[in-house]
Amino acid sequence: MDFWKLMAIVHAKQSILNPMRAEKMTHFVDMLNLSEGSRVVDIGCGKGEFLNRLHEKYGISGVGIDKSPYFIEDCKAAKTKRAPEADIEYLLMDGKDYQPSEQFDLTCCMGASWIWGGIRDTLEALTSMTKPGGLLVLGEPYWLKEPDPEYLVMEGCKREDFHSHRENVLMGDEYGVTCVYTLVSDYMDWDEYEAPHWWAVSEYSDEHPDDPDLPEIWEYLRKSRETYLKHGRDTMNWCLYVYRKPVHPML
Ligand SMILES: C[S@@+](CC[C@H](N)C(=O)[O-])C[C@H]1O[C@@H](n2cnc3c(N)ncnc32)[C@H](O)[C@@H]1O
Repeated sequence: MDFWKLMAIVHAKQSILNPMRAEKMTHFVDMLNLSEGSRVVDIGCGKGEFLNRLHEKYGISGVGIDKSPYFIEDCKAAKTKRAPEADIEYLLMDGKDYQPSEQFDLTCCMGASWIWGGIRDTLEALTSMTKPGGLLVLGEPYWLKEPDPEYLVMEGCKREDFHSHRENVLMGDEYGVTCVYTLVSDYMDWDEYEAPHWWAVSEYSDEHPDDPDLPEIWEYLRKSRETYLKHGRDTMNWCLYVYRKPVHPML
């Protein structure tokens, strides 16, 4: 079935598409302390929730990019409702093809570092798009413990795809940006992200009994639920990392 349709169904009940609950996102937005009117790019922007929150708090303008036609439609609908006057453009495209003609005050990629093949190339890509003195926000998993080989098979990833929290923090130095803030997830964040997928599919299934994709949707749900409950919940965590690009090169 169409992958983007599957993702839209699974995430139907959520506007934040990562394991950080709404109150902590509010705290995170407050903590960024942006200047009024800052320019922001969010690559893999999901439903545009982060950009809308930044606009509501700081009057930002900017660009949101996502490869899902469903989520870009959600972004446009949310903008019409919450920020009709805002200078925020939503682009349906592959994030790795985005070549901006400007540098931003804040660049962001939460939960989509695979766009560039991992956190290292994401740091490199975002650093080049960030003004000196600007911020980078990366939402990235990290290993809580060495992953069970069964988990790697179930999740379809490799041990080296992700790093420890310490490595993610220190890695910024290699790209000339300093990690200045971290906000990690807890069980409540994870459960508030994962369980609504189960709820959304259960409702969708009742509302669309004739959808020929239903068996595939349920197969996906059961596999991801088991992967999370059997291993993921105690193996992998998530963090919003803020890195700062200095005006003068780091010593
Ligand atoms: C885990 S979700 C996070 C969404 C959003 N950043 C948030 O935290 O709410 C990952 C997002 O990346 C998008 N995505 C996946 N591959 C992409 C690509 N190659 N280019 C742009 N966006 C992509 C997905 O459609 C999805 O919206």
